Amino acid sequence: MCGIVGILGKGPVAEDVIDALKRLEYRGYDSAGIATLENGHLAICRAEGKLRNLDQKLARHPLKGHSAIGHTRWATHGKPTERNAHPHSGKKVAVVHNGIIENFRELKEELIAGGAHFLSETDTEVVALLVDRELRAGRTPAEAVGAVLPRLKGAFALAFLFDGEDDLLIAARKGSPLAIGLGTGSTYLGSDAIALGEFTDEIVYLEEGDWAILTREGVEIRDVDGAVVTRPVIKVPAAALMVDKGNHRHFMAKEIYEQPEAIGHTFGHYLDLGAETVTLPDLPFDLAEVANISITACGTALYAGAVAEYWFERFARIPVSIDIASEFRYRETPLPKGGITIVISQSGETADTLASLRYAKEQGQKVVAVVNVPTSTIAREADLVLPILAGVEIGVASTKAFTCQLATLASFAVATGRAKGVLSQEDEHRLVRALIEVPRLMTEALKLSPEIELLARSLSKAQDVLYLGRGTNYPLALEGALKLKEISYIHAEGYAAGELKHGPIALIDEKMPVVVIAPYDRVFDKTVSNMEEVAARGGRIILVTDPKGAELAHVAAMQKLILPEMSATVAPLVYSIPVQLIAYHTAVIMGTDVDQPRNLAKSVTVE
Ligand code: F6R
Repeated sequence: MCGIVGILGKGPVAEDVIDALKRLEYRGYDSAGIATLENGHLAICRAEGKLRNLDQKLARHPLKGHSAIGHTRWATHGKPTERNAHPHSGKKVAVVHNGIIENFRELKEELIAGGAHFLSETDTEVVALLVDRELRAGRTPAEAVGAVLPRLKGAFALAFLFDGEDDLLIAARKGSPLAIGLGTGSTYLGSDAIALGEFTDEIVYLEEGDWAILTREGVEIRDVDGAVVTRPVIKVPAAALMVDKGNHRHFMAKEIYEQPEAIGHTFGHYLDLGAETVTLPDLPFDLAEVANISITACGTALYAGAVAEYWFERFARIPVSIDIASEFRYRETPLPKGGITIVISQSGETADTLASLRYAKEQGQKVVAVVNVPTSTIAREADLVLPILAGVEIGVASTKAFTCQLATLASFAVATGRAKGVLSQEDEHRLVRALIEVPRLMTEALKLSPEIELLARSLSKAQDVLYLGRGTNYPLALEGALKLKEISYIHAEGYAAGELKHGPIALIDEKMPVVVIAPYDRVFDKTVSNMEEVAARGGRIILVTDPKGAELAHVAAMQKLILPEMSATVAPLVYSIPVQLIAYHTAVIMGTDVDQPRNLAKSVTVE
């Protein structure tokens, strides 16, 4: 999750670019850089480390150009060195990038075969050199970018500045946000509108797949098919830009849509995408010696832990026990020697989780905290902090924190499997490759939103909803039910699909919607049998699956939500999107207070 800025100004813009980048520094500060046009030609200044290093460098060698792009980096591909800092460039173009180009290896090989020479280890340089090749073949900047964008796989945002083109920036959004600011005789671009508050209050948010041609006169936006489209201009007072919903109606929607980017950020921290390995911070214990794991948390964070239980057991063959923090703290659980305790908390302040951490420490265990707020009490008291890096979560119902917890725990489980010698190097590479596809798969999953909105109309009339899943989709069923009840106030229960016939099947009738989360995997056939049991009793099934699952499941009274095919490991991350959207759209139709549902609080610091 890096920060991108672009300015077409009336005078020298370097200082404004730095100011705007300062407001985006929360997105990363491994390095920073700027490209301007000096006497019509590209000039680039970059520095390792925080923005102030770039600022100091610019004080020594000022750039005077009136058009510029800037970047503050959170390293994903390649170390946080000056060489890997953005902008990256060819002869005729400079580019800044946020996100991951998944297919950069094959593109790089293609460019090298054509004689290209790479100066960095980044995936971004591939984009610069591809566009450069098109420009040198005589294409216009818009034609060049238009030709390259469809070739890029992944979730990303890009901004381009072209040699000799003082009144032009091109920007593209696929999975990572971009906002455009409209001034008088000046135009701006930022990863987040808060970067633009100083310059203008007229904001246009690019939509998924959009790319935009910016001049000082304004902006022309094209959609994914290249058709010119109009996006609304939104008046956003500067103060409001500090806590900004973007063009979403609720923070929860914004946070659902932010997930491809947030997850990219989390993986950027834990995965070395070049080496296809997991990199953890220095550990205060020997991972290879960990004999067992206790996980404890509350609510949504607990369900993230319940998914991780499957991962730790499968990848590292370590026994895991998982417990609700409010039970764990009083149960006087004997914690076996050689074990570690993982506590999971978005806020890092949840009273029961904090008490459980203290109990585990008293029992002599090393405690790993998976938290979003790095300055929180839980983070301060743990032996090791694994930040989930979801960014601020404002909606009371947790969404992006849940999937970023999953991303962090998946990385930790793979590292543990590797340290234990259960996973081979090739297994690690394969799993890392699967994980880095998540931002793109989530972007695909978000496209189900209109379909889910229609479905939510009938769901909103239900009194009770049942969620079923097996394996890692069982905790997701619990999370789906929790999400629905907390924001729509409809009663919902999550069950392991195999448990249905042991009681809950008595609830089934034609009024009872049953959401079944079942990608085609090794337990799919078993879940289909459970769906048959529901259908035989008149239950209405909403099946969340993939193309193969959709083809094989033929049960009466069924609606299907179809996600792309993916590795079973990443399914809980991606399937979270429809689960969240079902709750969100249902709540919006019911007219509840989505961001602040009744009786709830974001941080539960009491017992
Ligand atoms: C549900 C939700 C809660 C929290 C729980 C723990 O959407 O947000 O269930 O997950 O209160 O909070 P943290 O993660 O802050 O410890």
